[in-house]
Amino acid sequence: MDRRTFVVQLATATAAPFFRVQPSTRPLRADGARVNAALASFDAIGRMPGGINRVAYSDADLAGRAFALDLIRASSLTPRIDAAGNIVARLEGAEPALPPIVIGSHIDSVTDGGNFDGPVGSFGAIEVARSLAAQRVRLRHPLEAVIWQNEEGGTVGSKLAIGKLKASELDLVARSGKTLREGVTRVGGSVERLADAVRAKGSVHCYLELHIEQGGTLERTSRQIGTVTGIVGLRWLDVAVEGFSNHAGTTPMDQRQDALLAAAKFTVAVNDIVSAEPGRQVATVGRIVASPNTRNVIPGRVELTVDLRDLDTAAIDRFEARIRQAASQIAQATGTTFAITQGVSSEAAMSDGRLMDVIDRSAAALGFTGSRMPSGAGHDAQEMAQIAPMAMIFVPSVGGISHSPREFTKAQDVANGVDVLLNAVVAADRL
Ligand code: GLV
Ligand code: MN
Ligand code: MN
Repeated sequence: MDRRTFVVQLATATAAPFFRVQPSTRPLRADGARVNAALASFDAIGRMPGGINRVAYSDADLAGRAFALDLIRASSLTPRIDAAGNIVARLEGAEPALPPIVIGSHIDSVTDGGNFDGPVGSFGAIEVARSLAAQRVRLRHPLEAVIWQNEEGGTVGSKLAIGKLKASELDLVARSGKTLREGVTRVGGSVERLADAVRAKGSVHCYLELHIEQGGTLERTSRQIGTVTGIVGLRWLDVAVEGFSNHAGTTPMDQRQDALLAAAKFTVAVNDIVSAEPGRQVATVGRIVASPNTRNVIPGRVELTVDLRDLDTAAIDRFEARIRQAASQIAQATGTTFAITQGVSSEAAMSDGRLMDVIDRSAAALGFTGSRMPSGAGHDAQEMAQIAPMAMIFVPSVGGISHSPREFTKAQDVANGVDVLLNAVVAADRL
């Protein structure tokens, strides 16, 4: 080949799209500013005086999902909504027959929550797909960025994606007042075709999720990145206490069937039961609705919730049994009845060793300090762990505050987390 032909060929080759199947060993960088800009705009959606209110299936949740769909389109990706109502953006790999790497999180919120729990990992995942395409790094595996629907209501979208939500649970009522069945339809899924959304065990190469820590360990220990070792199991109980409504002035103290008094004793008992043993187990009575909820009437009925968590399922079983026993003792002592039903619950999940190494190495290559830690919060990752190797990346929460309007993560920490996710995806592609 003469020099002129070589130069012409070189010019043509560099002008054509150039995809590196094997990216260089230098760490890649995503556009963290773009993720932080998306988070700042997103803050307006569902913002109310008490905090962010994007509970699943509410109008604000739908507005949030429209925002996410626009962000995906602006990233030159084509979103689809699966039959469960999860939003999926797929970037093809060099070997389309390979199972996808799945990354993602959620954008629904708790009542009066913050803007970082979920959106950081959701917009971070979209940014990773966009960065790979923009930097012309082609993975072997397809990459799917997923926004799971209704995480806060019990990881509903990811449970549907692994086929673990029972048909009867579709009738449970979400915080928005809509049943899960209505919710699936409202977010663009189809309850008749739910089977189409199920991902079989082994059909996903691996699952990675970026999330805020929601606790104070990283901040306290001055670490930038957390590699999650495992996620707590979570059991939700719905408790209905039945007493008798009567006049608050004329009913003597020894002739009352006060459902709120029984609920108060029960709340204390739940706290005492889980505090009685050493360990990381926690339990919370977080919601309580008394009827008729009026100053001069003895409450005849109370509905309340219990949220019970531990890394060990056997311990959760043990505490649940003690809680049920306490309920029947309190019922007897107060002339009330307790009906306890199990709500949506999640299994504890351990992270995959090789993926944790991938995250540690990606963080180190970027020059970040890191440490391994368990997650006390629930995540869609624990559902995906049932069908694929899973690991999570945590970034610091200021003051360790979350599920609160004061929830905050610094822009630099968001950008760091997205960079770690990007490089972890590239490394996981080689596993
Ligand atoms: C989800 O955020 C949970 O841990 O409840
Ligand atoms: Mn949350
Ligand atoms: Mn979350």
